[in-house]
Amino acid sequence: MQTLDLQSSVAKYPFWYHKIDLPGGVTTPGWAPLSAASYNIPEDLSGKRVLDVGAWDGYWTFEALKRGASEVVAIDDFSDYLGSLEKSDRRAWETFDLCREALGYSEEQCKRFDMSVYHATEDKLGRFDVVFFFGTLYHLRYPLLALDVLSSICDSEIFVETAILDDFSPYQGGIGHGYPGAQPVMEFYPSTEYGNNDSNWWAPSLSCLGLMTFSAGFDDVRVWKLVDQPAELAFCRGFAHGRKSS
Ligand SMILES: C[S@@+](CC[C@H](N)C(=O)[O-])C[C@H]1O[C@@H](n2cnc3c(N)ncnc32)[C@H](O)[C@@H]1O
Repeated sequence: MQTLDLQSSVAKYPFWYHKIDLPGGVTTPGWAPLSAASYNIPEDLSGKRVLDVGAWDGYWTFEALKRGASEVVAIDDFSDYLGSLEKSDRRAWETFDLCREALGYSEEQCKRFDMSVYHATEDKLGRFDVVFFFGTLYHLRYPLLALDVLSSICDSEIFVETAILDDFSPYQGGIGHGYPGAQPVMEFYPSTEYGNNDSNWWAPSLSCLGLMTFSAGFDDVRVWKLVDQPAELAFCRGFAHGRKSS
């Protein structure tokens, strides 16, 4: 596709979540990720089969392919409207497909399924070397079930990114008030308490995130925060990397 055509195809969509670099200097106008380097995913994913959970426009799917993954499977159930998007602002896989084609990846290398994480079974998707579970855990009513499901189809490593409570809790006084210690705490949001988004159900402290990842069968777990002292809710995020030793 010519650069001008690509630019106008990108501009046709009312909303982009991800900022994705496409050929010809075209970039999709989303804002995520805030800091791709902070996710600490491997530079080299050569030969790896990767699952991208909650893929949205596909930034992390394409990142895995750029880093040499042999195949990436993306799943999403399109349930997140960020508390403010119109239904018509989300166009299922259309933005993902536009980027996949522009980047030149085949449908075989880069499959995508309308699927909730709870239904990600070996029968349907096969097994994975690496799982990306970014920005999705706090949208789930059953976060531990999701981690167990993902562990059951993962042979080696999981990377998790989520909202965390260490520096923000709507129940403790907002920004600057959370659970900064090692307490394994999780808060429940029955309505729009977290970020004014009714698809946010639970948020863990960083230590809780690590223990949840461990309890799902990843015995070597490391956790870190996006920033030390976040001044805004968008930066109150944490990561876990879990590896299976056998
Ligand atoms: C905040 S976005 C994160 C997008 C991307 N993973 C990232 O971190 O940049 C959350 C995504 O997870 C999806 N999602 C929410 N619940 C899900 C579920 N149960 N199964 C699969 N995807 C889900 C949403 O539709 C949305 O695309």
